[in-house]
Amino acid sequence: MPKPLNIAQEVRPHFPAVTDDFIFGDNAGGSQILRESVDAISDYLLTSNVQMGGGYMHSVEAAKRVEKGKEAAAVLTNVEGGPSQIVIGSSTTQLASNLGHACALAGKTHGLFELNDEIIISAAEHEANVGPWVRLAKELNLTIKYWLPSPLPNSESPFAIGLNPADLEPLLSANTRLVAFTAVSNLLGHRTPVKDVVEIVKSKTGARAMTVVDCVAYAPHGHINMQEWGCDAVLFSFYKLFGPHLSCLALAPWSPLATKSHSLGHYFHPQAVSYKLAPGGAPYELQVGCYPILPYLLSLGDGEGGTASEKQLAIAFERIRVHERLLSERMLAYLLSKEAKVKGVQVVGPHSSEDRVPTISFVVVERASQHGNRVIYKKRMTSKDVVSKFDEGQKIGIKYGHFYSTKVMPCLPLDTSIIPDNLVFDKSNAWQPVAEDDGVVRISLVHYNTLEEVDEIIEHIRNVLSEL
Ligand SMILES: Cc1ncc(COP(=O)(O)O)c(C=O)c1O
Repeated sequence: MPKPLNIAQEVRPHFPAVTDDFIFGDNAGGSQILRESVDAISDYLLTSNVQMGGGYMHSVEAAKRVEKGKEAAAVLTNVEGGPSQIVIGSSTTQLASNLGHACALAGKTHGLFELNDEIIISAAEHEANVGPWVRLAKELNLTIKYWLPSPLPNSESPFAIGLNPADLEPLLSANTRLVAFTAVSNLLGHRTPVKDVVEIVKSKTGARAMTVVDCVAYAPHGHINMQEWGCDAVLFSFYKLFGPHLSCLALAPWSPLATKSHSLGHYFHPQAVSYKLAPGGAPYELQVGCYPILPYLLSLGDGEGGTASEKQLAIAFERIRVHERLLSERMLAYLLSKEAKVKGVQVVGPHSSEDRVPTISFVVVERASQHGNRVIYKKRMTSKDVVSKFDEGQKIGIKYGHFYSTKVMPCLPLDTSIIPDNLVFDKSNAWQPVAEDDGVVRISLVHYNTLEEVDEIIEHIRNVLSEL
């Protein structure tokens, strides 16, 4: 059992913005930044803010510092091939879009996709990992299939849904060429068993299908380990991992996504992955500011005898996980209590802290109708109204909505839910459900949050619900 995290001593001193005056509960939207990242950005701008590629000392220093951002990302993802497999861009949305576009340009000419190919997209995705593949399918006339989240085993509640690999299996075939799925849903908080999914995909498709894993909602809570997972690509955003507003795409060197995708860069520029998928490059100073995330996380992995970075990172994330489970358990104990249930609270996503990260969503509902065994609910209090009450106090920051995961909402037993009968689409007919704006109330915590903060949030919810 790893040593418990000491939040006051090991964590909070690194986050000057996190004080006792305000509770940051919207971390899945964006986390607070490390002091060391801010210092690195400022130091870069003050001492080496020149163009890279020159032989003079400031330019040499600038190049070295900027490269360190990629070096950190390579360790954070454990991508085979190191920094040369890292693409840095302004956001995950941008990078996924670049990747999809580069695949479409390569199209059938490079054997990247063939006529009868199918793309499977999980319906638990943020739209960032949907749109690029839908556009690609449209361009190349490919078929799209959706892997729906479904009620999790060991749970009675129809709101306790998540991605189950058993639901993916029947969708896979020798025609499957790409599977896009999330390591953690930003709305459900459910952890997908990534390694198992990749193994199933490979075994059912004769290792033909490529896997693109969205790790944006996973990155602050777990170690991204591409070499262990065996996936082709991962994406994550530094600004949700305690760094500046930049994102990373890591591509395994053996993946056709790396070797066959078309360059988006200038024709005379290097064709290496790092360049070809990031035309224009990222702001230098922000890329410099990504590096300190690594030593910070490694510092949390110290003291247990770990020396290799991967081992230290694994320990750091194990310690983070233990702390975060306590946060989830405290939050869930209230949200699943009889007291909350009577008011209509339904936790959306796993009810067990084991299967989730502390990104916890809920709705306040009442029964609307019953169709056989299936009960349909309607909002008893809108998510907007719940969050407005929080905003009145200006002490706790949380949000509501669909969080761009628009295909999750129809999978819940709500009166607004409509799932098409046939989840197989051709190029002219992608599934675009109406974005249900009221969505869920989402409280998303990370390791710098404390149990005392969870208690305050609970007290607030109690007050809000007392009106019912
Ligand atoms: C799971 C998930 N994927 C992708 C994204 C998009 O990330 P970015 O804002 O960097 O485009 C988000 C953003 O909230 C997210 O939560």
